[in-house]
Amino acid sequence: MSQHTAAHPAPALRRVVVTGSAGFIGSHLSHALVQSGAKVVGVDLRDPVTDATAGNNLARLLNRPEYVHLTADLRDCSIEPLLIDADVVFHLAGVPGVRPSWGPRFGDYLSSNVLATHRVMEACARIGVPRVVVASSSSVYGPTDGGASTETDRPAPASPYAVTKLAEEQLCIAHSGRPGGPSVVALRYFTVYGPRQRSDMFIHRALQAALSGQSLRLYGDGRQRRDFTFIDDAVSATIAAGTVQDAHGPVNVGGGATASLLEVIHLAGGLVGRDIQLEHDHARSGDVITTRADLGRAREALGWEPRVALHSGMRTHLEELASQYPSLSRAA
Ligand code: NAD
Ligand code: UGA
Repeated sequence: MSQHTAAHPAPALRRVVVTGSAGFIGSHLSHALVQSGAKVVGVDLRDPVTDATAGNNLARLLNRPEYVHLTADLRDCSIEPLLIDADVVFHLAGVPGVRPSWGPRFGDYLSSNVLATHRVMEACARIGVPRVVVASSSSVYGPTDGGASTETDRPAPASPYAVTKLAEEQLCIAHSGRPGGPSVVALRYFTVYGPRQRSDMFIHRALQAALSGQSLRLYGDGRQRRDFTFIDDAVSATIAAGTVQDAHGPVNVGGGATASLLEVIHLAGGLVGRDIQLEHDHARSGDVITTRADLGRAREALGWEPRVALHSGMRTHLEELASQYPSLSRAA
């Protein structure tokens, strides 16, 4: 048994690789790692010079000497040179989003979430990277009876996206069993929100609707519940997963409480001081009614638990959106 446990974490990380670093979670993670003193190599398909979202996500990082950015596609780029001397690879690159995974874009989900992950894992084994932390998803659980999902539950992914995320995490775990394979922690993130959240996601859209007065499209009756997780909590769990010596396998990362979409709409309206106009639409295939994380393993294996409640996290998210889009004025 190692001397490093959740209670006695390993020393701070020296050099790490973050894939998907121009994305929502990856950019926050990269920034936190740089702040902690690590040197970070960030890799992403999106070029921060030509892609406005990537440029905005990386704005605080590109001028930092501790951060090196590479625009590259993990489906075909040379990966090994990036990994030399890395303590951890945080593999967050991938195509996210449940609803667009039906139809013609499935090939992108499959190639970036599964085939590119296989390339990353092969390269990690060849270079001898000791730890990979991979972004899995609460969506691997599929429909539940409303109770908390634990990592030992049988997965039942209900969308093409969720199928690729289950394949991705299981692929990484399979690689970890090979001689010379890295140890793997697969973080099952539960609907992460906060500053720079992807613009297709619900809390971003609800806050934007409250700020702008434009209507919000609601899929289904709004009684769906999510275990919304604030970005800073997702980041601290991810760093713990890269640092704690004995962690292995899937670990839930949730916010610690659930809220319905109707409750989020009420909160967003209250924070801004304007009622949100709803445009009702049909429920989408693959959307589950409830996600709820059992956090026992996260506490035990990572020594981690979430700290930020939804109201407070949404307030922080709102401040960022309001400054990002000054044209969206507050009503109150
Ligand atoms: P995001 O789209 O903001 O970030 C993902 C990044 O990966 C993007 O910048 C994209 O350009 C990059 N990427 C995609 N394919 C690539 C490839 N082939 N090569 C190099 N880069 C590539 O998404 P996010 O919300 O930050 O999610 C990050 C990860 O976490 C994803 O793997 C997603 O499936 C997972 N996840 C997210 C959430 C959430 O609530 N945001 C929840 C569960 C799991
Ligand atoms: C989110 C991420 O988008 C996925 O990448 C991730 O894997 C997943 O969390 C996860 O937890 O694993 P989702 O829960 O669908 O997926 O998050 P949102 O996109 O914010 O949607 C939440 C709910 O709001 C869904 O029921 C959706 O149908 C609804 N919604 C979303 C709307 O009603 N209107 C919208 O405009 C957007």
